[in-house]
Amino acid sequence: MNKKMMFLSAAFGVMSSVAMAQSIELPEPQIDNGVTLYQALKDRHSVRRFSTRPIDNQLLSNILWVAYGVNREDGRRTIPTARNEKDLSVYVTNNLGTFLYDADANSLVRVLDKSILDMFQSQPFMANVPLVLIYAGSTADNNYAIMHAGSAYQNVELYAATNDLGSVVRALFDKEAVAQALNLPDNQRVIVSQAIGYEEE
Ligand SMILES: Cc1cc2nc3c(=O)[nH]c(=O)nc-3n(C[C@H](O)[C@H](O)[C@H](O)COP(=O)(O)O)c2cc1C
Repeated sequence: MNKKMMFLSAAFGVMSSVAMAQSIELPEPQIDNGVTLYQALKDRHSVRRFSTRPIDNQLLSNILWVAYGVNREDGRRTIPTARNEKDLSVYVTNNLGTFLYDADANSLVRVLDKSILDMFQSQPFMANVPLVLIYAGSTADNNYAIMHAGSAYQNVELYAATNDLGSVVRALFDKEAVAQALNLPDNQRVIVSQAIGYEEE
């Protein structure tokens, strides 16, 4: 390879890794661990003791699929949504940054270069938490996004309970500040969040 080719190839490599960093393709979700629904229901509980061990992208993909993933060929989801409007947004913040889950593409679309895990520290146990999901939806009166958030976080609680993970739903944080950090438009608001990680022994 001559010098010009080497330069072009290096430049292209840098450009494509910058472009790739904006959106992270998730591994295919693993959707069967053989656990029964009854076992999951028996085991579900809030966890408030977390280890700092990170959640890898395979596990993150599994969690997001459970929360709000596509489970049918027509694009419908693991949760029901009123009029099939799919009006819930699920954001992810972890050590890689802050992202919006694109369920159709099974990918994470970067919204911030930085993590905003520090915005959820209003309870001491949050210090170790490696992953927070943020559920957002419409500010309009009588919209159903708040219910859809409930369906999604319950799915995640059931998944966590049967996969050696801990989770806790969290309303105790500054939702306005998080909405601002996420650059939510005026007609969108943060509904609730959910902390997820490995339970500390
Ligand atoms: C909408 C909602 C908001 C919650 N917010 C918090 C919170 O900010 N901090 C917290 O420690 N737990 C929070 N929780 C967890 C509840 O405290 C917990 O579910 C309740 O104590 C029952 O315990 P269990 O989940 O182990 O059954 C929240 C739960 C829900 C459903």
